Amino acid sequence: MKTILPVLCLALLVFSVATASASDDTGQSVYTKNCSACHDSGVMGAPKVGDKAVWAPLAAEGVDVLTHNAIQGEGKMPPKGGNMKLSDDEVKAAVKYMVDKSK
Ligand code: HEC
Repeated sequence: MKTILPVLCLALLVFSVATASASDDTGQSVYTKNCSACHDSGVMGAPKVGDKAVWAPLAAEGVDVLTHNAIQGEGKMPPKGGNMKLSDDEVKAAVKYMVDKSK
């Protein structure tokens, strides 16, 4: 009976690490395929990923607000970056990736 607890803890730890890196991968691949064309270089005034000064006020709005704006489209940015096949969760993963890369 005593061995069950540590094994359970280890299993939970492995599971949470695995899920965390899965969502990072999703964010990165969604970003690379759908968002980097504008957001790598700042085309048309897109907030450039990695530019801390530009992203600080955006990050302050929170990932949920940014995701909502990215889904709806904002200014010159098309809804979902122009790929309507993306799910809301995929857009959110990409937004998280962008915010994390711009801290
Ligand atoms: C066609 C170019 C283009 C593509 C592709 C694109 N964006 Fe954008 N994005 C923009 C531009 C331009 C802005 C600035 C909009 C403004 O404020 O006028 C912007 C702004 C944003 C913002 C800030 C919104 C805010 O609240 O001010 C987020 C978040 C964002 N984009 C996420 C994404 C994500 C996620 C993707 C991929 C799914 C993506 N963008 C793809 C051009 C693009």
